[in-house]
Order: sequence, then structure tokens, then C-alpha cells
Amino acid sequence: MCGIVGYIGSKPVADILLDGLEQLEYRGYDSSGIAVKTETSINVYKAEGKLNNLRSELALHSDEFNKSNMGIGHIRWATHGAPTVVNAHPHTCNCGSLVVVHNGIIENYKELRLELESEGCIFKSQTDTETVAHLVALMYAEVKDLTKAVQLATKKIQGAYALCIMHNNEPDKIVVTKRNAPLIIGLNDDGYYIASDVPAFIKHTKKAVYLNDNQVATLSAKDFILEDENGFEISPKIEVLPWEPVALSKMGYKHFMLKEIHEQPDVIRNILVGKLHTPDSQIILNEVKLNKDTLKNLNRIQVIACGTSLHAAMIGKYIVEDFCGIPVDVEASSEYIYRKTVTDEHTLVIGVSQSGETADTLTAIKQSKARGSHILIITNRPDSAMAREADSLIPVNAGIEVSVAATKSYIAQLTSFYLLAIYMAEIKGSMSVSELVNLKAEMLLLPQKIEQILSNKTVIQDCARKFASTRDFIYIARGINYPTALEGALKLKEISYINATGYPAGELKHGPIAMLDETMPVLSILMKGFVYEKLLSNSEEAKARNARMIALTNSNDPKLNDLFEVIIKVPEVIEVLSPIVAMIPLQLLAYYIAEFLGKDVDQPRNLAKSVTVE
Ligand code: M6R
Repeated sequence: MCGIVGYIGSKPVADILLDGLEQLEYRGYDSSGIAVKTETSINVYKAEGKLNNLRSELALHSDEFNKSNMGIGHIRWATHGAPTVVNAHPHTCNCGSLVVVHNGIIENYKELRLELESEGCIFKSQTDTETVAHLVALMYAEVKDLTKAVQLATKKIQGAYALCIMHNNEPDKIVVTKRNAPLIIGLNDDGYYIASDVPAFIKHTKKAVYLNDNQVATLSAKDFILEDENGFEISPKIEVLPWEPVALSKMGYKHFMLKEIHEQPDVIRNILVGKLHTPDSQIILNEVKLNKDTLKNLNRIQVIACGTSLHAAMIGKYIVEDFCGIPVDVEASSEYIYRKTVTDEHTLVIGVSQSGETADTLTAIKQSKARGSHILIITNRPDSAMAREADSLIPVNAGIEVSVAATKSYIAQLTSFYLLAIYMAEIKGSMSVSELVNLKAEMLLLPQKIEQILSNKTVIQDCARKFASTRDFIYIARGINYPTALEGALKLKEISYINATGYPAGELKHGPIAMLDETMPVLSILMKGFVYEKLLSNSEEAKARNARMIALTNSNDPKLNDLFEVIIKVPEVIEVLSPIVAMIPLQLLAYYIAEFLGKDVDQPRNLAKSVTVE
């Protein structure tokens, strides 16, 4: 997490840094800071909280730096040390001559700190990053060359880092390096841009160099030298980014989350274009690079992901097993990486990630790749680190998702999973023609069905108002919608901070039912199909314990009127596609509850959009 930016060139630096940081706010937003080089010194400005606080702080000092053309900046998601001004980056050495911003975690920071303190370094913060400032400064005192000092210092550092460093004695130099954290340099006639991610500089240039691990770049206003960790020069690979600057606008919606929820019909339409034309045409999925014989004979798939993407993966398991008869294991990446997983060249490993950057999933992918598995990545960021590891890459094309709570990327991941599963079923011949035609016809209708839900939100808003003051919330479902219950609960807890939990309804009686009383809302995801009657019985059991019952259903069953206090209706849909339709009201319910509670919907506390630390 955290975002870093830098600029050296001919333009005034402060706005470039601040605009860049604004584009990186999805990486963290608990504090921020910049350092700019003036004629005589390096000035550091920091603020706690959102970036606007830094803007206000800077407005008081603009005369100090308005001529500066060189600086670095940081937006933080706290790992070591509370989100305070003291812990905000940039961090400095004892005398303030050297400044550093860092994304990642220095794992041996405690040992380094003890060693540095014994050499006279005085620490001001509780961060791991400050060790880098002192360490590089000590090296600099010996070698009097910032690039060499960085090369020497990074040999002593363990962990993950992207670093951007300036020294007051080197007035035309920024040195950057990285290991297991992203760092990109943008090249333009006016100078060089540095960032954790492309959006920070795309409005200035599309020419860029992605740094590889352990490479060190030395940037001056007119020059750029790339070296390995031992000082051997490397010729940089300059890429032209396939990106257009996007003006991130809420388009009249109060929050990005609400806008992104409303984009979902078009997200599905965009995914289907070129892949699914008519119910009787075959799925086209050229992105899958496994040859057809290998696909036909696959006997195992593993899917790894985190958070919302994990819930999409769980639904992926249901549909791949159902359509193709191939066993699928799904696991949270953070668990997968710390056990002896059985993966080999006969296993297809699918990584699912909105950002393509999540550290746990990236590590898991690298581990399975090293064991010879074919890696298929489903991501919203085809330019991401995970995409670079992929043998097959399915971009979900949901467009930039700004709100921390994932909505449209989830629906895009699900849609992509349906296409993949149908594509594999067609190759394997594991579904009948009539089943396939029916399924594809229903898929083509999904955007309209979502539009119907979005055009009448009154019942959901009323429900949100009714339950906004609850402390806990339970979601129950069975079968393919069990992950929908988990995702509904995740949406609610992350933006409203209500203690929400999803259960497979059959599990209620094995413990959770003890919590039910007249204060507990239980939302039952009752989609017509195989498990409908079973779930109805589980809902009766909850009602018998006086729980406040809410139904999310596509059924007109009159029995529901007696059982449920609130009934949220969705259009008819076949059971296997119901997770897409059912999710929309749950996103809206979470949104309106958070909104009624006055929460910071798009940037909930303690979270970041991209989780780049383990
Ligand atoms: O970028 P990823 O899909 O890999 O991110 C995984 C999770 O961090 C993410 O889904 C998180 O749970 C969202 N905030 C959920 O809304």
C-alpha cells in the first residue's frame, strides 16, 4: 500500500506531486507529505488524514517552494506506527539533508534501527522507513554519491520497497529503486515523473519505464541512468502506455460507489461484446492460451484471491464444477502461500484480482508459476504486476474503480468466470446444446435485469433506513449464493462498520442461531431453484427465534409475506446466474446504510483499495 510520486524537470513541482498523490489515494489515505528542493534546502511538508489537509498545509507556505522543480511525495496506509504527522513520509536523516519516501515494508527494520542508533542516528518516528533515511545517509557520508549510497544501503535491507530519495548536496538528482513493490518512471520532454502507478502521471506522458526488482535509476532534469544493484548500466525498456487520462468524475452521483454500482449493466455489456454474440454462437475467448487438448484433459484447477475477488472465485468454483465437471479448489491467497500446496504443471492456477497488485495473491501466483502451473489471471488491470506473470490474461474491463468497496469489478469478474466456464464446457462437451443456448440467452439478458433493479430502489432505501442503527447483521444463503451472502456482509461491514456475517443457512443451527433474538436482522438470499425450499425452512427457524427477517428474492411465493418483515424483489433469473442479480440490491443496501450513517463511503477507515503488503 502507500503511493509514492516524484518529479524532476522544468515545471513547478508542487502541483505535479499533489495531483499525482490524488490519483494514488486508492493506495491509502491516512496521511501524506511531500519534500521539495529549494535553492538552499529540502523542505518537508506533512499532514495527517486526507490529502486535502496537506493541500491546506501547503497553501500556507507556497512562497517557500513555488520555484522548485524537483520533489517527492507520499500517501500513506499505516503499517508501522500510527497515522500521525510524525510517522507520515517523507522521512529524513538526522540533519534533514536526505529525504525518502517508501512503499513496502522493511522487514529487518528493528535490527537496523538498533544498529543505526548505536551509530548516533536519532529516530523521530515509529516507522520502518526511517531506517532507510538514516542508512542511506550514513552510506552517503562515506561514498559521497547518492546512487552508490542507495546501492550499498539496499544490500542491507530485507523486505519490500519502492524508494524515492533526494539529498540536499545533490541538487539535481533523485534516486529511485524497488524490490517487490511497483515503481514506474514517466519520460517527457519537460522531465521525469516517478510513481507507484500510471494514473499519477498519465496526463503528462505515456512513455514509461517499469523498473525491475533491484534496478536503481538516477534521474536529473535532463538525464536518466538505469543501473543494476552493482552499478552496471542497463538500457531501459521504454514502453508506450495504452492508457488515456481519465477525468475521474462522479458524474452527478454523490459517491463513486453509487456511480460504479450504476455502471454495472454496461460493464456486463462491454465484457460480452466480441465474446458472446447470440445464444447459439460459441464463446470466443482468445485470451486463454492453454491448448484445447490440455483444457479438455485438465483434472484440477486452483483459484486464489482475496476479499471480494475471493468471493467471485468461490462462485467460479460452483460454475466450473457444474459446467465442466473439473474439481476446483479455492483458497485465500494469504493462506495458500504459507502451506505446502500441491500444485504442479498439470494444475491450472487462476488468480483473481481487481488491482492485479494484491501482495498475497501475487506471491501465491509466483509460487505456483515456479512449480510449473499455467497461470490464468482475471484482473481489472491488464498492466499490473499479476498480469505480467500471466500465461493467460483475461482483463475484465470494468474501467477504473475508485471506491474502495469493490462493486463493478466483482460483477465483471463473475461475468468473466461464466464466460470462461462456458468456453471450457464447450471444449469439453460437458453441457448439452440446449443447456448452453438457454444459459447464453439468459446471460445476454443480465444487463436489462440489473437496470430494472437500479430503476426502483425505494424498497432497498426504506430497508436501509429501517436497519441503519443495527449493531449486527446476518446474511444467509445456500449453494451458489453462499458466497453472495459473504460478499453482501463484506460490503456492509467495510463501509458502515456494522458487524455483518454471511453464513451457509444450513450452518445456522450449528451455533450462530444462538445469537438470534428480536434485535438481529437476518437477510435471506432466497433465489428460486434447487435449495429454495431448504433455505425457506432455515428462514423459518430464524423467524422462530424472533429474528427480524428480510428476504432478497425472485419468488412471488405468498408464504413469504408472513415470514418476512421486508421483501426485496429482483427479476426472475436462472439459479446459476442468480449471484449477479442478487448482488446488486446487497451493494445498494450497504451503500444506503452507510450513507444514512454519514460514513465516508468511498474511503472507509483503515482500508486501502490496493493491498500491496502481506
Ligand atoms: O485488488 P484485489 O481484488 O486483489 O483486492 C482484494 C481485496 O483487497 C478487495 O477485494 C477488498 O476486499 C475490497 N475492499 C472489497 O470491497
